[in-house]
Amino acid sequence: MRHGRVRPAIAALPAYRPGRSIAQVQQDHGVTDSVKLASNENPFGPIPEVLEAINAAAADINRYADHRAQPVRDAVAAMLGVDSNAVTVGCGSVGLIQQLFLTFVDAGDEVVSPWRSFEVYPIETMMMGATFVTTALTAELELDLDAVVSAITDKTKLVLLANPNNPSGTARTVAQLDAALAAIPDDVVVLLDEAYREFVDPEFGDSVRELLPRYPNLAISRSMSKAFGLAGLRTGYLVADPELIVEVDKMLVPFAVNGLAQAAAVAAVQHRDKYQPMIDLVRSERSRVVGELQKMGWNVPRPQGNFVYLPLAERTDAVALDLERSGVITRPFSGEGLRVTIGLASENDRFLAALSHYTP
Ligand SMILES: Cc1ncc(COP(=O)(O)O)c(C=O)c1O
Repeated sequence: MRHGRVRPAIAALPAYRPGRSIAQVQQDHGVTDSVKLASNENPFGPIPEVLEAINAAAADINRYADHRAQPVRDAVAAMLGVDSNAVTVGCGSVGLIQQLFLTFVDAGDEVVSPWRSFEVYPIETMMMGATFVTTALTAELELDLDAVVSAITDKTKLVLLANPNNPSGTARTVAQLDAALAAIPDDVVVLLDEAYREFVDPEFGDSVRELLPRYPNLAISRSMSKAFGLAGLRTGYLVADPELIVEVDKMLVPFAVNGLAQAAAVAAVQHRDKYQPMIDLVRSERSRVVGELQKMGWNVPRPQGNFVYLPLAERTDAVALDLERSGVITRPFSGEGLRVTIGLASENDRFLAALSHYTP
């Protein structure tokens, strides 16, 4: 069959592997009451204000929405206390990460990232024909910032720091990031991927307020998919120096952020106080789950996102399959470990009960 000549960089790519769905697990194992703790989603449904905004916006879907998603930029800028032209909005924070690659990375360039980290990073790098340079995590599965700084060469265009890191869940403080940024040349763009920012303990610091004014090569991405529960609508934002934003905006797919997503994101940001109780619940469940895991004897890296990570090494796939047969869908990283999203208390109990058959 002739299907054209695929770019070698794309032919070599692994396909993105999303978390397994409840329907797939039902089909494979006949389990009808599965819980999905695989994709770091928010277990709570939308707040009424968001639903109302989506309903109202639905009447206009025969029109293209605002290409720049200006109302979302303005709402986010007001929330963060920054200028509106320091914010851009994209189709999920992964959409913005892709825009950043398209803006800064050429074939032959190097992209530095601690590893293991978010699986989108190597895919984007390969897509550009660039080289993915990795640095190991520390023994505590934290980003090794000294190693990252040491890995930077003349060819480095982009440094990727997921904070909290996915899947290990650990986070670095703003002071630690500051020290690393000070050692990174200012012609290298640093992406601080803060998709899980709202779940981080406050003492870790505020990157937008403390770092952004001092580092014009810093871009901070955040997501509406996690704490704000809008994963299905795809919206994220990037905060950076306005001159960087102008360049990244050129790579925005026309009308990438649809009208329903824009309406929902504005309402979510304007009513963000309504999310705090849900965020608090996730954080307290996170502490409870970690406490229970520790009681069972598991050694868990300190989680700062809405998920926990079990470094199960070669047992990972077997444990994941067994949990799935018990109706608990998690996210295995073969040969390394298992990422488990913090869900509702009852869902977390299902996970803990299913795991209790295993000895650490
Ligand atoms: C580190 C990290 N960054 C970004 C994202 C993507 O978020 P979004 O839904 O905003 O594209 C995820 C989602 O899993 C993530 O783990």
